[in-house]
Amino acid sequence: MQTISCLQALRTAVNTLKSGGKTLALVPTMGALHEGHLTLVREAKARADAVAVSIFVNPLQFGPNEDLDAYPRRMAQDAALLQAEGVAFLWAPTVEEMYPNGFATGIAVRGLDAVLCGAARPGHFDGVATVVGKLFNQVRPDVALFGEKDWQQLAIIRRMARDLDMTTPFADAIVGVPTVREADGLAMSSRNQYLSAQERTQAATLPRSMRTAIARLQAGEAAAPVLAELTDALLTGGFHAVDYADLRDAETLETLSQRGEAPARLLVAARIGKARLIDNLPV
Ligand code: PAJ
Repeated sequence: MQTISCLQALRTAVNTLKSGGKTLALVPTMGALHEGHLTLVREAKARADAVAVSIFVNPLQFGPNEDLDAYPRRMAQDAALLQAEGVAFLWAPTVEEMYPNGFATGIAVRGLDAVLCGAARPGHFDGVATVVGKLFNQVRPDVALFGEKDWQQLAIIRRMARDLDMTTPFADAIVGVPTVREADGLAMSSRNQYLSAQERTQAATLPRSMRTAIARLQAGEAAAPVLAELTDALLTGGFHAVDYADLRDAETLETLSQRGEAPARLLVAARIGKARLIDNLPV
């Protein structure tokens, strides 16, 4: 595995690979890698000749009172994991390399960025879209993989890629990978390590109560009472705030009052201890 932190070297490495006729898959991450990330890497390997993984804790997507400084950084350990997975390139730029002096351009995916996590984290998805757009231009992958864990992020990246003609040559060049979970159902996340032992146990209330709600929504119940009970279950189960618990169209993210014909998704963000956890499941 080549670890690269300078853009010129990355371009040379990618050009060499491509001139050999090889295809390249990209897995963007912020590091502190867990089985969820590694599942994306394995899926990437199945879809291209070579895999590039980026590790970049992107300051642009953190709000002023968010956890940019506390966000776990474990470059050496992450590199060893990626090496063992047979990754070709680890792209680990510095902040100065990604955002050189005078950097002034951004990507906004309007509408999709205003709801759910976008409402609680203004500017967050501009930061995500901008860095992912840059990563696509830097790495020029044939295919890029993202987790369904961050459903809204996936929807926004798909929209951006379509709107800005980034997805060549495949129509399905942006691949969503199902959420990898702990044994008790909690979605794996680099932020789970903010939880105390007791909070970690309580956090499993999230997927458990979501599954109860989904059974009721699938039986045709109206969303409002089901979502109210889901919120109550989280607050009783150890969460101290529920940012949202919504039934939405899986693609447009429009609110639904009931499950209908179009694919629907239950999406939740809730706070426990120092962590803000998100999860979503198909309905
Ligand atoms: P990060 O949170 O490190 O996640 C990197 C990728 O791993 C994302 O596509 C995310 O959806 C996926 N992922 C995280 N937990 C997962 C799980 N339990 N199962 C499956 N996939 C999982 O998301 C980001 O970084 C950043 O916003 C990024 C896209 C890199 C832009 O900075």
